[in-house]
Amino acid sequence: MSVVRDQFHRPLHDLRISVTDRCNFRCPYCMPKEVFGANHAFLKDPQLMSLAELTRIARAFRTLGVEKIRLTGGEPLLRADVPDLVRALKHDLGVPDIALTTNGWLLEKYAVALRDAGLDRVNVSVDSLDDATAGRMNGLGFKVDRVLRGIDAAAAAGLRVKINCVVQRGVNDGELLAIAEYFRTRGHPLRYIEFMDVGNTNHWSPDRVVPAKEIVALINARWPLEPTVPAYRGEVAARYRYTDGRGEIGLISSVTEPFCKDCHRARLSADGKFFTCLFAAKGSDVLGRLRSGASDAELSEYLANIWAGRADRYSDERAGLIARHESRPKVEMSYIGG
Ligand code: GTP
Ligand code: 5AD
Ligand code: SF4
Ligand code: SF4
Repeated sequence: MSVVRDQFHRPLHDLRISVTDRCNFRCPYCMPKEVFGANHAFLKDPQLMSLAELTRIARAFRTLGVEKIRLTGGEPLLRADVPDLVRALKHDLGVPDIALTTNGWLLEKYAVALRDAGLDRVNVSVDSLDDATAGRMNGLGFKVDRVLRGIDAAAAAGLRVKINCVVQRGVNDGELLAIAEYFRTRGHPLRYIEFMDVGNTNHWSPDRVVPAKEIVALINARWPLEPTVPAYRGEVAARYRYTDGRGEIGLISSVTEPFCKDCHRARLSADGKFFTCLFAAKGSDVLGRLRSGASDAELSEYLANIWAGRADRYSDERAGLIARHESRPKVEMSYIGG
């Protein structure tokens, strides 16, 4: 295995794979339904990576030091072959940490199959426990109960579970204590995520972001918290534990406290393009290389060269761009994989 470093000496450790750009939700902060409606051109079958192609590309990433693979989307469980992919990643490639990010709608159905295939853990989105707010935040009026059953099924199957809650001022910021209370009593780490300016269509503005510090102060006033040491360098969430021993929360503060300095994440879009940042405008066509006959060694070399040239640090630069009224072209998050 050759360790490759980018322009800021950051190694490549995690790979996030978007297995589909489709989703059964229409969260306005990610896939607003007026944009992702009947006329939206989703990727079609030959454009998507097959199971065999996904496995070969993941194998090439493994040779560069990737130890953690996260399957995401869109909604990854819309692809029925996800358990087969997990099995290949675990048993053929020996990936130590395999995780899935999901909206939970299909989790009750798949939890046991995913565990049996070798999945280590799941991150499930819960933005609200109130059906009216949850329905607004998933864009389709779906009630939260089915997602909560999915979470219970995943935990019962033995999967480690984390909860993701995107916080938007004026939408769900009045419900943060209630969500904390629910997951505290169930022992699942809850991560509050600052609303980010991903994609081009989610009506982001700085005043709709609730800064992580404000959230910590709110929770700490009700249940005292203390910061914990990061589990590893470059961890996305800053974690705090409840001093009463009832678990922990995390803050993902890409807007107010960016974490690009240690970013070691690569992203693979659902059509097999390699992106070196969540906010990049363009990816490199790995799938194209593979389909035109590249060998495993050639694929590894191609990926290593791209990583070596990487200089992305969008979240560090965001404040300056906003101050200068500049914007950059971006791709949509459902396509690139969160
Ligand atoms: P863990 O391995 O469990 O810590 O997962 P994770 O937080 O890396 O992944 P998850 O898919 O649960 O993502 C949670 C949130 O963090 C999402 O809103 C992601 O878009 C965001 N996120 C993850 N990685 C990055 C990153 O490199 N940059 C930015 N800006 N946001 C990220
Ligand atoms: N800002 C912050 N987080 C977002 N997610 C999707 N869109 C945004 C956004 N605009 C989150 C989802 C999921 C994770 C993969 O990304 O809620 O938890
Ligand atoms: Fe779907 Fe997740 Fe995006 Fe919501 S945030 S539309 S569940 S991919
Ligand atoms: Fe990494 Fe780009 Fe996110 Fe910064 S903005 S942490 S470089 S993915």
